[in-house]
Amino acid sequence: MTRDEIISELQRLEPWFHCIDLGDGLFTKTKSAIGEPVDHPRPTWEIIKTALPADLSGKSLLDVGCNAGFYSIKAKERGAARVLGIDAQRELIRQAIFVRNLKGLDIDYQRMSVYDLDPRELGQFDVTLALGLIYHCKHLVLALEKLFLITRELLVLETAIYPPEKTPESFVYAEGGTRPTLHPIAYVENLPDAKEAVFNWFLPSTAALMALLKNIGFDEVSVLPGVQTDRAVMVCRKETPYPDSRGISFLGSKLTLLSGPSDCRAGDILTFRVRAENSGYARWLRGSEQGTERGDVHLVAHLLGKDDEPISLYHAGAFLPHDIDPGDSIEIEIGLRAPNEPGNYVLAFDMVSEHLAWFEDLGSVIATHPLVVS
Ligand SMILES: C[S@@+](CC[C@H](N)C(=O)[O-])C[C@H]1O[C@@H](n2cnc3c(N)ncnc32)[C@H](O)[C@@H]1O
Repeated sequence: MTRDEIISELQRLEPWFHCIDLGDGLFTKTKSAIGEPVDHPRPTWEIIKTALPADLSGKSLLDVGCNAGFYSIKAKERGAARVLGIDAQRELIRQAIFVRNLKGLDIDYQRMSVYDLDPRELGQFDVTLALGLIYHCKHLVLALEKLFLITRELLVLETAIYPPEKTPESFVYAEGGTRPTLHPIAYVENLPDAKEAVFNWFLPSTAALMALLKNIGFDEVSVLPGVQTDRAVMVCRKETPYPDSRGISFLGSKLTLLSGPSDCRAGDILTFRVRAENSGYARWLRGSEQGTERGDVHLVAHLLGKDDEPISLYHAGAFLPHDIDPGDSIEIEIGLRAPNEPGNYVLAFDMVSEHLAWFEDLGSVIATHPLVVS
């Protein structure tokens, strides 16, 4: 492209939020679009880069809310093997693709929302960037969960926060039984004529955001020093790609009854085979046969009567053969004794995370099977 062609394309793709050096004295923009510094986000990059490995060779990096791709380009310059930038706005992805093509960089860009991120489709990324993103998220916790699941090792999150000088103190709420700690989160009222893409929703206090990120499952969350007071950079680390079943977040199952009798005589010993798919995002822990620990996952059969009235909850249980990773399936055999009273019954198969939750209560669908006892 000639210099004039580049300038005319830059004008066609205006307004630019990211100032990117295109070489030959050309930059994507020369004036501020919505009050940001003209050279945005170069000053923020000086902070963000300290939270990233200097050498990203062999690493995959996801830039969520990539805008025109300033940070994706920086990641590529640091040697990242795979870079994907996503943004909810189509025009911004067009800007990013224009700059990428001009620079001849191997970066993938897709118009996609943070809410659509799914590691089963995209794989996980060693490093995720979520810079200037989360105050745009109406579903704040869902967005943070999506960022958690798509990340394998490190999430760097930069955001505006509840202005510290106005932020009430976190405190322990003493009423009631559980005495939780309450952290302030501010709701941002939107003007009636605000556009969807520029809506702002929540400004968490630093303490609230740290607690949220820890509760969602990050093993370590720290705040980067040296950031202006109404913004914060959180560095969030994971020890394993997925959490395990000792927490109730991300548990899910799909159960299919493969075989087993529909009628029998009172007191018979019956055997059923069930396929259990780990459709959630937490690793199921098998536990040991010596004793049940919090979070061990078992297959359970409940015995129900007329109108699903529970007759014997946890009528029988079965161990997993081994731990089951998210996305994997297993066949499990479960033996149980038919009731001594003849009649019409229903067997309901569910998974349980011991001492925590029935999977059905978390939204999974149980497998049911009629049983006629004569
Ligand atoms: C304040 S800009 C920050 C851009 C860039 N990350 C930076 O720090 O300079 C917010 C970006 O997030 C994008 N965005 C907003 N909501 C989003 C969503 N639900 N999913 C993905 N991107 C979103 C916007 O389109 C915009 O590009």
